[in-house]
Amino acid sequence: PTESIEQVIDRLCVKIPDHPDPGILFRDLTPLFADSQGFTRTVDSLAEAFEGQFDCVAGVEARGFILAGAVARSAGCGVLPVRKEGKLPRETYRQSYQLEYGSATLEIHTDDLARGSRVLVVDDLLATGGTLEATGQLLHRAGLHIAGFGLIMELTDLRGRAKLGGHRVRALYRV
Ligand code: PRP
Ligand code: ADE
Repeated sequence: PTESIEQVIDRLCVKIPDHPDPGILFRDLTPLFADSQGFTRTVDSLAEAFEGQFDCVAGVEARGFILAGAVARSAGCGVLPVRKEGKLPRETYRQSYQLEYGSATLEIHTDDLARGSRVLVVDDLLATGGTLEATGQLLHRAGLHIAGFGLIMELTDLRGRAKLGGHRVRALYRV
């Protein structure tokens, strides 16, 4: 019998207690990324969940980048990089936010995509939702339509989904 995508993710996720701070159970998905079957099935599942609903895939630096390029290639569309502050060379929108273990600032170029484009946002993991809430705010300021949020893993106890404003959220594995 074939493993379900949930079983694959569960098998290839490593839990590290107290990383990067005491009290945080860090869920490391690098073994899933490194597994040919695991990565392919993950990427295709995210692309299929939003099939026909997006013109571009946004990925959040850094782990989201690994997914965004692959999901975009699977769907035959382009990528919008959502970067940590200070990296993008032209005019940007900037948004600061808090995440499970700190705070940061994200940026996008104001004009990489035509206003009205439908953007699927992907990331490895939804925790408090601060990262994706900030990403949604950036896309909104750029006049972009949020097609939805595609995640590998959602930590449901942290209620991040409530920050995502009624947009479609698809997490392949919820814990
Ligand atoms: C991690 C993860 C998500 C975010 C989720 O990224 O990849 O982007 O945290 O947390 P939240 O829901 O509480 O906002 P991190 O900021 O650690 O950066 P990295 O991708 O560079 O490792
Ligand atoms: N990003 C935010 N919280 C996380 C966690 N518990 N594990 C991995 N990445 C995270």
